[in-house]
Amino acid sequence: MRVLQIASEAVPFAKTGGLADVAGALPAALQQLGCQTTLVLPAYRSVFGKGLPIEQTDLRFPVAVGTRSLEAAVFTCRLPDDGGQIFLIGNDHCFDRDSLYGTPEDYADNAERFIFFSRAALELAARQPEPFDIIHCHDWQTGLVPAYQKLLYNSWPTLGQARTVLTIHNMAYQGQFWHWDMLLTGFHWKYFNWQQMEFYGQLNMLKAGIVFADKLTTVSPTYAREIQAAPGGNGLEGVLAGRAADLVGIVNGIDTAAWNPRTDAHIPRHYGEDDVDDGKYTARVALAARLGHAAPDTRPLVAFVGRLAEQKGVGLILDLINRMAGSGLAHFMILGTGDPAVEQALRTVAASYPGTVDVVIGFDETLAHLIQAAADILLMPSQYEPCGLAQLYAFRYGTIPVVRATGGLVDTVIDTNDQTLADGTASGFVFEAFESAALEEAVRRAVAARGDHDRWRELVRRVMGQDWSWQASARRYREVYEQTLAAPPVAVADVE
Ligand code: ADP
Ligand code: GLC
Repeated sequence: MRVLQIASEAVPFAKTGGLADVAGALPAALQQLGCQTTLVLPAYRSVFGKGLPIEQTDLRFPVAVGTRSLEAAVFTCRLPDDGGQIFLIGNDHCFDRDSLYGTPEDYADNAERFIFFSRAALELAARQPEPFDIIHCHDWQTGLVPAYQKLLYNSWPTLGQARTVLTIHNMAYQGQFWHWDMLLTGFHWKYFNWQQMEFYGQLNMLKAGIVFADKLTTVSPTYAREIQAAPGGNGLEGVLAGRAADLVGIVNGIDTAAWNPRTDAHIPRHYGEDDVDDGKYTARVALAARLGHAAPDTRPLVAFVGRLAEQKGVGLILDLINRMAGSGLAHFMILGTGDPAVEQALRTVAASYPGTVDVVIGFDETLAHLIQAAADILLMPSQYEPCGLAQLYAFRYGTIPVVRATGGLVDTVIDTNDQTLADGTASGFVFEAFESAALEEAVRRAVAARGDHDRWRELVRRVMGQDWSWQASARRYREVYEQTLAAPPVAVADVE
């Protein structure tokens, strides 16, 4: 089976969040299962500064974006482990910029940039010697790919027979644009209707993907259910419920080579289940040094690593610190970047509790690993969470997550209580209500549990031994591909 993956970010090339981790690791896992995988990414400016063996190919071709023609320059990269073939689509006008999508404001021409990328990826695929069986795209940035495959490229011999799969990593980002951007897509205006590409007067790229893809997946079974109703569907719940038969939830795997305390190059001392205390202590010393503290704090370290977005419950975290920092029960460490108002509020709270609250604003891969190794408790009080990867990384590093019961967090974290301790399933602390008091109660439970050394040790050993590698998830994707290939393609409705 030949699989084309199209994504707007992937590790190690470009990353703003978990999508990059998934798109970076899934191809290699599929290769191991015998699927020949090709990954196509944008050649952002930043991909060239990382020392990766990226080479320019001779391949260049024009791509129509509205009335303009933009040239796609194709790069390739061979990585040491066999993750299949990788292509990067270059175009200076679209991708030679400071950030991936624009920050804090999105770039005004993101519609044009990702229309270009989606079409270029398909036209690149069409120029390959053999046709692809599956075209698998991710999130709104590539949401138009299924529509292109069905409406504009279906007579191309190398693309026409393919089936399309769209994975939804987050319903809150839909790629909604001014209706005139329809002109940039090259699609007939007749598709701009409420059953296909239009949503409240705007062009909605994720909706187009949901309507035109042959199969839909999202990143956990619970999130697959949540998005078929309000508020999880973010307005598209009806469209998703209409496709319930074609929608599956598959929990993400993690890259167990990149996130492994036994081999991690980002941490000062490697460790496993047997020497986790020493490993964590050494990480704490390194973290303290990095933050400019003379010595590490001996109190439980409660950490957060993630995007500073409403989704992540950053408001609850601020409340939590204000409620608990004065108690002296724990040390708090936050690493994140995002909403400028939240960044400022975090800086202020750190200044109010020196020695108890550390805040680092920025995107820092090494620090993310170091914090996972150093921390005792990881906070994920998400308002919603399609899958969440940070809690799975936490498990590997013997860090116990405190999570809200939503989306993939429900499917991956089991609350610690007498029952789950007895049956050996406990793996974290779970709370229900999206309220500061509920988070505080869960954190206090976790901190208290941390005080019982033997029990905590037992919990840590157990979570470290769990298997969240890609193997099982990649197998599920392959099954989905096989089912999709066995079924006829989804018909394009003629909407009056
Ligand atoms: P999401 O995709 O919603 O951001 P996930 O938990 O799936 O959430 O994945 C987040 C990924 O991004 C993790 O690999 C996490 O370590 C990383 N990450 C988020 N913020 C930062 C940051 N400021 N610095 C380093 N890594 C970060
Ligand atoms: C999204 C979600 C996150 C998920 C990630 C990878 O960014 O917010 O929950 O883990 O995608 O699928």
